[in-house]
Amino acid sequence: MKCFVLYGINGDAMELTVSASENINGTLILPLFEGSESVPEKCQTGMSSSMKNQINRVLSDGDFKAKKKSTMSLYGGEDGKAILVGLGKSDDCTIHDYRNAGATVTATIKKSHGNEMTVRFDGAGISHMAAFAEGMMLRDYSYNNYKKGDDDEEEVEVSIRITCSEKEEEELVGKVNILKGVCKGVHLSRDLGNCPPNDMYPEVFADMARDWAKDFDNVDVTIINYDEAVKAGMGGLVAVGMGSSRKPCMVIFEMNKDVKGRCPVLVGKGITFDTGGISLKPGANMDEMKYDMGGSATVFGTMEALAQTGFEGKVVGITCMAENMPAANAQRPGDVIKGLSGKTIEVLNTDAEGRLVLSDGLWKAGEFDPEYIIDFATLTGACVVALGHEATGLWSNDDDFRTRIHEAGNAVDELAWPMPLLPAFEKEMTDSKIADTRNLGAGRWGGANTAAAFLKQFVPNRDYEKDGEQITWAHMDIAGTYWGAKTNIMVKNGATGIHVRTIYHLITNS
Ligand code: BES
Ligand code: ZN
Ligand code: ZN
Repeated sequence: MKCFVLYGINGDAMELTVSASENINGTLILPLFEGSESVPEKCQTGMSSSMKNQINRVLSDGDFKAKKKSTMSLYGGEDGKAILVGLGKSDDCTIHDYRNAGATVTATIKKSHGNEMTVRFDGAGISHMAAFAEGMMLRDYSYNNYKKGDDDEEEVEVSIRITCSEKEEEELVGKVNILKGVCKGVHLSRDLGNCPPNDMYPEVFADMARDWAKDFDNVDVTIINYDEAVKAGMGGLVAVGMGSSRKPCMVIFEMNKDVKGRCPVLVGKGITFDTGGISLKPGANMDEMKYDMGGSATVFGTMEALAQTGFEGKVVGITCMAENMPAANAQRPGDVIKGLSGKTIEVLNTDAEGRLVLSDGLWKAGEFDPEYIIDFATLTGACVVALGHEATGLWSNDDDFRTRIHEAGNAVDELAWPMPLLPAFEKEMTDSKIADTRNLGAGRWGGANTAAAFLKQFVPNRDYEKDGEQITWAHMDIAGTYWGAKTNIMVKNGATGIHVRTIYHLITNS
């Protein structure tokens, strides 16, 4: 079974529309502020008195307090069902609370709620209503490609109608349509990350990218296959991938390539399975290393979000795809390799492979006259030690740029936390006795920082000029945030699809 055949199925269970209708069709979804003692006046239009009485009773008895992320389902009323959802206190209720409330509702929906629902807001702003819709859509995802299907499973096809005033309708429809496109990007990233490694390997990812691009006139996908990568001197990509029967490749996405001027270049680590190679990982949880291509999924997902929403600017994505296997022809600890940059690397641990493939991806990025380069990588366990599953590690050679990414993350509630790019770490990664660089720090401390410092050695100067200025670059270590983020309410389990929304926000708001 090849997963790309099934691409497009996941995340499609919900049909969400916006309308200025006054009717309540199906189950009512009612977001409420803490302290509400009765149904807000604005929400009463089209509501039967029996439903109003039932909700009023629940509220006045204090049975539903409308705390953040809480819900209560009301069944058995004379005029249908309702889901009450809490927004917390009205004075500190943010757009994030609306998004969280939307996601909470999706997580609550069961077959017993029926398959038609109407959302009614109490005078929320347009951006707040849109965020609620976004939360609903983001959470509407489960990865079922490999399940036969079970009638008892709570996968429900529902149509949701967000109601608003006539005055608001056009703007809200526009906003929700954009968010639908962005959610497609997030869901695609999750599909890629969740796909098992026997079906998701470099060639499959490349085929998927090529097939996907056929739907868009303004996107070109170029695949640099194994032989071409060898010929081009992509020594990092080749060294990591050569031990696998599934050979490595580089996939380049170019959107609106004829637009003049500099553009963002996104680079992704795409290790479709990381055994550690000859420096073999321990067995426990090794299955999770299928998500070691999360960086490449972020790049592909962001391209999808931009393409779906008709973005007209130029953007380039480069994904470095390889499978890291132990084999007779795998690279060894002790090997010295040379990649595109011409710098040599002493490979002291074959499990530090992400930085090797990225060294070629980052150097290649320089060919596209980048306004800036951002790389995404499930790079280090050390980053998970430092930040848990709560925030991505964020490094940059430009403080202002780092702040911009941090703020873009905050705007969409995807935390990216500033980390230090210190000269001492660079020194540590460049003091190999026999090569220009080493892929392992001198000790285990600061492992996420030494990895970032290593990557910096491969960020080219403008126009590759020897003494020129280094291109603005940021590195995002998503080892902890791409997977296993139990507090991320936007996702049930598995791949999170993190940072598609951050980077979409960054690119489209500047
Ligand atoms: N893919 C791993 C990093 C990782 C760990 C991602 C846990 C997600 C969860 C990476 O290739 C790796 O193995 N890094 C090593 C580096 C070390 C050998 C310097 C690590 O973090 O242990
Ligand atoms: Zn590794
Ligand atoms: Zn890895």
